[in-house]
Amino acid sequence: MDQLLADVTELLGRQLPPEYECALRTVPRHLFLPSRLWLRDGEGGYRPCDRSTDPNEWLTAAYTDTPLVTQFTDGLPSSSASMPSMVLRTLLLAGIGEAADEVRPRRVLELGTGTGFNAALLCALLGDGAVSTVELDPLLAAQAARNLQTAGFAPVASCGDAAAGWQPRAPYERVIATFSVDRIPPAWVQQTVVGGRIVTPWTSSWCRYGTLALTAGPDGTAHGRFHAFASFMPMRRSGQDTAGPAAVSVRRKGVTSLSPWLVAGGDLDAEFHLGLAVPGASFAWDTSGEHAPARLHIADDEGPSWAAVDYDGHSADRFTVIQAGPRLLWDEITAGYTHWETLGRPRIGQYRLSVDTAGEHTVWVETGRGRSGIVRGRQGEAGGGQQT
Ligand SMILES: C[S@@+](CC[C@H](N)C(=O)[O-])C[C@H]1O[C@@H](n2cnc3c(N)ncnc32)[C@H](O)[C@@H]1O
Repeated sequence: MDQLLADVTELLGRQLPPEYECALRTVPRHLFLPSRLWLRDGEGGYRPCDRSTDPNEWLTAAYTDTPLVTQFTDGLPSSSASMPSMVLRTLLLAGIGEAADEVRPRRVLELGTGTGFNAALLCALLGDGAVSTVELDPLLAAQAARNLQTAGFAPVASCGDAAAGWQPRAPYERVIATFSVDRIPPAWVQQTVVGGRIVTPWTSSWCRYGTLALTAGPDGTAHGRFHAFASFMPMRRSGQDTAGPAAVSVRRKGVTSLSPWLVAGGDLDAEFHLGLAVPGASFAWDTSGEHAPARLHIADDEGPSWAAVDYDGHSADRFTVIQAGPRLLWDEITAGYTHWETLGRPRIGQYRLSVDTAGEHTVWVETGRGRSGIVRGRQGEAGGGQQT
């Protein structure tokens, strides 16, 4: 535990408030973990870690500042015990556990119970009566309820789709999601008191990165900004249509001077911007050599369009582009990247998001010149200053 506290403190770059240290000590993380965990294997995959075969490794993992995958669905991680430092950073951003009684939130909703660990921390910080939590997966919800009981905590833990919030105990002073979203479900804003905070990890098809912190305003509005931390698994949707896109055969071939590594090579600020500017576009690298020494493959998650950008192994400023379908995805990426450069290569912390009374989202960039650069949403809604 002392090592975990030291690692968390180092990663956060600040001393933990005493209430947080106390909460971490009173919520034994191992009580929330299944006997089989999945740890990163260092090669982009996962390997199992079983309490029965290697109890020492299992217990060490429980008290290491790392996310522990607890469930896979269709080959992808679908639930985890989040990384403790990320959990605490989110709670700090949400203003949970502030010392003064009068500012301590009395009604908090956690979305995505998972193992129940975060809900238990909330209980330790605010008291059982303040905490509600909701989980989509019935098996996980039932196990989390058992974990919470074993550890001595009693929040209201329910099973349901967090897209609808949790009406029975609304309104809340804080709504905290532990999965990432690309837009704020209206229920979250409607169920938050005016002045209350909504904190959620962010994702787009292009880039899973960042945390959005909003303050709820009147009439279903909310305003806030992005913060440069966290990469959480995306929200699961009940009854999601999983039908694949239809094949398309119309193709255009061309040449680009924009390096695919600039847009998909790990520059998180550029990729965060592209995720907002080109909704629905996702990418994957193909280095099998089947098409080219390296190919960036781009797909439209909701339609048949796709694009491919090929590196021939020699030229760093000339790449072959193929685009197919109604969306010219590489053209959209190029326009988005050019806009990001025009804005002065903003960092994630400069992006602001507003939700209006109709639930419309507007995202813009705060530059030194004032509000400028609508990235997504209606022109003219960000207010004041020049729009680029
Ligand atoms: C990163 S895990 C949560 C970690 C958890 N808070 C903990 O402390 O262990 C994300 C959880 O969100 C749940 N989830 C995803 N989409 C959901 C939805 N629409 N409604 C409710 N829960 C959801 C997943 O099943 C998963 O258990």
